[in-house]
Amino acid sequence: MQIRVSPGTSSSLQAGALVVPAFSDARLDGAAQGADQELGGAITDVLASGEIKGKTNEVALIHVKDLAVKRVLVVGLGDRAKFEPQALAKYAGTAVRYLGKRNVRSIAIALPLEAQHHVRAAASFVVEGALAGTIDTTTYRSEPEKPIVLEELTVVSTAGSHQFEARALDEGIERGRVLGEAVNAARLMALTPANDMTPTHMAKRAEELAKEFGLRFEALDEERMKKLGMGSLLSVSQGSDQPAKLIVLTYEGDPGNPEKLAFVGKGLTFDSGGISIKPAENMHEMKYDMSGGAGVIAALSAVARLKPKLNVIGLVPASENLPGPRATKPGDIVRAMNGKTIEVINTDAEGRLILADALCYARELGATKIVDCATLTGSMVMALGHAATGTMSNDDPFVKHFLSVANQTGERYWQLPIYEDYSNAVKSEIADLRNSTGRPAGSLTASAFLQNFVGTTPWIHLDIAGTAYVDETPYMAKGPTGTPVRALVAFAEDLAKTRVAAKNGAPSTAAKS
Ligand code: BES
Ligand code: MN
Ligand code: ZN
Repeated sequence: MQIRVSPGTSSSLQAGALVVPAFSDARLDGAAQGADQELGGAITDVLASGEIKGKTNEVALIHVKDLAVKRVLVVGLGDRAKFEPQALAKYAGTAVRYLGKRNVRSIAIALPLEAQHHVRAAASFVVEGALAGTIDTTTYRSEPEKPIVLEELTVVSTAGSHQFEARALDEGIERGRVLGEAVNAARLMALTPANDMTPTHMAKRAEELAKEFGLRFEALDEERMKKLGMGSLLSVSQGSDQPAKLIVLTYEGDPGNPEKLAFVGKGLTFDSGGISIKPAENMHEMKYDMSGGAGVIAALSAVARLKPKLNVIGLVPASENLPGPRATKPGDIVRAMNGKTIEVINTDAEGRLILADALCYARELGATKIVDCATLTGSMVMALGHAATGTMSNDDPFVKHFLSVANQTGERYWQLPIYEDYSNAVKSEIADLRNSTGRPAGSLTASAFLQNFVGTTPWIHLDIAGTAYVDETPYMAKGPTGTPVRALVAFAEDLAKTRVAAKNGAPSTAAKS
């Protein structure tokens, strides 16, 4: 895809369609106002008609004769006073999906004047959202749906005439491209059915991305894991013929610095529940149970391309959870890498078992900060629905920093507590821990369980069970969302920036990009 910048909507602008924003106050400005004038008030008319009220992701298409561009798509941006640059990814995604389905392959998207002080971020969101809008989810059909093809994207910014703003636009576009491609890489991995996305396939995909973008890649096999004492992880894979893999990706952006951020993602390529088998209804959705792992692999690929000045490792324990003849049985007791023994009450609480050893190994590799992400509990969907990712931590300043960055990315994160009550609930009568408790606070007892494997290392656990895949929206196809790739990448960038700022004696900030 070609991406260009245009300073306005003048006659030199060539595209199949021009996309302009409308807020709910129906007041036009910037590029929208310019286009409206050239069109003799056609956009004002469509707003006055009430056909579109400027509500978020609403659209109205106008065919025009007075511009070089033959169509104008008005896309709603909601309340002007509440505008945030992150809304632009959905704005662009909505436009690309609407126009792409109508075969428009070249689109010019105008930034709202509201974004003029955040040109870099705005451009990044527009490009990321546009790319996310193009994904083809029908590749397995013998006659795939006509895919949305975006050959040319022009970012129209009336702020782009100044030198420094032009540079910010270019930087934002480049970042948006990297992030959008990473988001789509994660989504495509998750979309791939479990017969084509085994732990071995997942490791191969990680290796491909590592080669392409310059990451160190390693995948521990079961023999290695056994030697390392990862009895918890291996107790999950033993019910399946597919061997488990522990994928490790390494990015060294600040060699010699002992600080090392670890991302750990649950890569459960199919969760049948094991012997504690799940009901058949919706079990097919458990191919998405590797979304956290896909997110970590994709985030590392973006980090390798954006090159922030810090060290990041990505760990993905990848396994199936099946009720084969060697499967772990409820009541079995297994031993994790740190020596803790776990009574397996429910073999469907397998995510925490594979994460336990991966978290231990992250510390073994020298992680000084850990963020894990996992489609870990059905309770998470009960608690927050699909609206936000539950965010649990053992370190308040660390998680506050994460939240301030992650909630600016277009993804939503909401903190929940890990009270001692929950830590007590995961104690076993005959072993150190049990992997399942009663129904109350299932996401938080799961967090309390994981906390046993991070020691004193600052750690954040993201339960993406409700946010990793959702129904269709105007801006994205039904299925995987790419959560938490945007947040992980932004957090790595921000940690690098805050470190550099701290070195220079400046106070640390959770700066907007
Ligand atoms: N992968 C599931 C959690 C899940 C459920 C994710 C629905 C997305 C949608 C996880 O492995 C699981 O089965 N968790 C159990 C834990 C319970 C047995 C303690 C759950 O949430 O029911
Ligand atoms: Mn399960
Ligand atoms: Zn699971």
